Amino acid sequence: MMKEIDPDKLPRHIAIIMDGNGRWAERHAMGRVLGHRKGAESVRVVVRTCRRIGISCLTLYAFSMENWLRPKAEVRALLQLLKDYLVNEVQEMMDQDIRLTAIGNLDSLGAPVLMKLRETIERTAGNQGMVLNLALSYGGRDEIATAAGRMVSDSLAGKIKPADVTKELCQRYLYTSALPDPDLLIRTGGEYRISNFLLWQMAYTEFYFTDILWPDFREPDLMEAIAEYQQRERRFGRTSEQLRRT
Ligand code: FPP
Repeated sequence: MMKEIDPDKLPRHIAIIMDGNGRWAERHAMGRVLGHRKGAESVRVVVRTCRRIGISCLTLYAFSMENWLRPKAEVRALLQLLKDYLVNEVQEMMDQDIRLTAIGNLDSLGAPVLMKLRETIERTAGNQGMVLNLALSYGGRDEIATAAGRMVSDSLAGKIKPADVTKELCQRYLYTSALPDPDLLIRTGGEYRISNFLLWQMAYTEFYFTDILWPDFREPDLMEAIAEYQQRERRFGRTSEQLRRT
């Protein structure tokens, strides 16, 4: 049964760690790559559903910095899958008014993927219905280190001084400077970690973990996660009493 959700209390930004493709493939006696391909179907369903219910931003952890350590053939297949996704979905993004953005060490993706990515980002840049943000060759610590490096160079160029370095300034140097922090993190695949994902941005994010493997994660599962989020009280360090008074 589909969980009812409150349209007035939607998370603005949902982030997802899509885990369990490999195990799904193993359980179905298939190669890992087929698990990822099936996972791309869940991506399509989740993107469409988020757009339909009115989520403003969806960030998907599609390829981590650590994923480069996987067997070469799997890395190649993941990059190819990503390229196919961009080619096949750009029309849907246009029809659905979805803007594509990407965060991570994008240059390391290689020219074929990077060109397609840039092309799709440019083509969808004017869309306003929802932001679909892909984390690609992304690592949270790398993001913070890259931001620190850029701050040091701006400091050496005389653009900023140590006293300017506040948390708001740091935020402006991150890949996600244009996005709100995630309200809800979903991790599928039964593991309870954040695996170097959006470390700075998730300071106050609600975490939702499920054993469902990513290729099996569909609309009712997303609704369940949002319904659970809506039951939680977000206090941001305050007391419940203080929240009742505001
Ligand atoms: C984790 O499963 C998943 C990934 C490393 C890649 C995620 C990629 C996709 C869902 C498909 C492509 C993405 C887009 C945006 C089209 P795992 O292989 O670590 O699973 P396991 O823990 O069961 O081995």
